[in-house]
Amino acid sequence: MRLFFALWPGERVRGELSRVADSLASGAGGRAVPAAKIHLTLAFLGEVPPERVGAALAAAAATRARRFEIVLDEVGSFRKARVGWAGCRRAPILLLELQSSLREALRECGFALEDRPFAAHVTLVRKIASPVASAAMPSIRWRPRDFVLVRSDGATGRYEVLETWPLDRG
Ligand code: 2AM
Repeated sequence: MRLFFALWPGERVRGELSRVADSLASGAGGRAVPAAKIHLTLAFLGEVPPERVGAALAAAAATRARRFEIVLDEVGSFRKARVGWAGCRRAPILLLELQSSLREALRECGFALEDRPFAAHVTLVRKIASPVASAAMPSIRWRPRDFVLVRSDGATGRYEVLETWPLDRG
């Protein structure tokens, strides 16, 4: 099954990001990500055989995870991937630590992850027709309470949260 770890916004942040998604999509073309699917990916595992899911759960349980605030204050796009996103000019150090601790734990549990540097972003529009100019946006303040393991259903495109871990461990 196709799995990834993510931060999942609550209703308020999701609603605010969904409005940004609509406005980006009206400017750049493409498909706004539905509010219920908006998230920030921490680690993408890709296809994982069912017998390896336990190892992903163990890696998450071993991850150092503390609370932090993300200030989403800019929009932009990845040209090659043709996605428009919201991001933060300054990623909180505790977010970077969460992501690197999770990545390290996953590697120790035998997962081969991409070596690309982590670019914290929330994809808001897919298949954009034209790039989104990098620009500041009014800040959206987000204090995630937990991080989650999500299953992406290739057939339906639906996401299912399989497990949740609180951000309260040093
Ligand atoms: P994106 O939002 O920038 O598209 C589920 O597919 C999530 O995993 C998406 O948020 C996606 O990022 C992210 N992801 C990271 N690497 C990926 C890859 N190689 N293929 C598909 N999704 C990937």
